[in-house]
Amino acid sequence: MLKFGTSLLVPSVQELAKQRITKVPEQYFHPNQDSPVICNTNSLPQIPTIDLSKLLSEDAIELEKLDHACKEWGFFQLINHGVNSSMVENVKRGIQEFFDLSIEEKKQFWQTPEDSEGYGQMYVQSDDQKLDWADTLIIHTLPPQIRNPRLIPCFPQPLRDNLEKYSFELGKLCITIIERMTLALKIESNEVLELFENLNQSMKWNYYPPCPQPENVIGIDSHSDVGALTILLQVNETEGLQIKNEGKWIPIKPVSNAFVINVGDTLEILTNGLYKSIEHRAIVNSKKERISIATFHRPQIDRVISPISNLVTAQRPALFKKIVAGDYYKAFFSRKPQGKSCLDAVRIQNEIDE
Ligand code: OGA
Ligand code: NI
Repeated sequence: MLKFGTSLLVPSVQELAKQRITKVPEQYFHPNQDSPVICNTNSLPQIPTIDLSKLLSEDAIELEKLDHACKEWGFFQLINHGVNSSMVENVKRGIQEFFDLSIEEKKQFWQTPEDSEGYGQMYVQSDDQKLDWADTLIIHTLPPQIRNPRLIPCFPQPLRDNLEKYSFELGKLCITIIERMTLALKIESNEVLELFENLNQSMKWNYYPPCPQPENVIGIDSHSDVGALTILLQVNETEGLQIKNEGKWIPIKPVSNAFVINVGDTLEILTNGLYKSIEHRAIVNSKKERISIATFHRPQIDRVISPISNLVTAQRPALFKKIVAGDYYKAFFSRKPQGKSCLDAVRIQNEIDE
């Protein structure tokens, strides 16, 4: 059973923000935040938009676009994804209502000192560590037998049922996307799909309250995702997600009826570095809360992960060591992610020049 590591228990940021403070407490204050590239946002490059219905009708140009998006951006917006939109709306509403519950009602879902699954904040290892301006709820969702009996089964209805549907639909969507990626990479699908049998899924709900000093806090600091594929749903229209592209922070605009998809570390390893796991972060603003749901997909913990044989050639030797998936996840969850440092630890040193 995968654990998300332990975390010191910290107060709810949502409750703190309700106190109408004008200065954030020292522990949330980041003096030197990398500012986003603010210029004319219309002229900023945006991540590619991929149409799943075109991919499923074997559109070669769309497949080429998918390949390009994963190689150059590691991120894309997915439209016409086939996931029932009224079900997605119900999940959004349920999660918004969940965060609107009183703190007393949410307390039963609070993290415990033994495992950071639940409601609270992850990766808090010391009393003087800087904290994120966000509350999160993290849960294991697939396979169903790994669900924690004190979390999803105790959620209010209809959220619990809608979440169940959402979890299965996103699991299926993940497999569909991975399968299209194997076509784009021109590799044997089975070798990869076999790794995703009985796939491991977890969800992280992020609640970023408005903040009186938004430029001096961070919603979630720069990191890459540990799994293979993340499917992010922006629950409301508030902006905040940014990705690192050529050393600059690029904001990702919410697109209605789209999912933001990103490549995680495990997929970067499997594709021998062809598909990139990109650093990203979330900033907050002074006016409006922001809510997002990240759904992470990865191979089971006992699977051995290494670059897929067809993607290792004399010109492109293996860039990553062979590892047991669970060991990699455990290393990732054991401390606060910093950029791509976890992936760097499994990199083979004598790399080719790219
Ligand atoms: C995450 C994440 C971004 C966001 O939870 O891993 O990157 O927009 N979230 O909330
Ligand atoms: Ni992330």
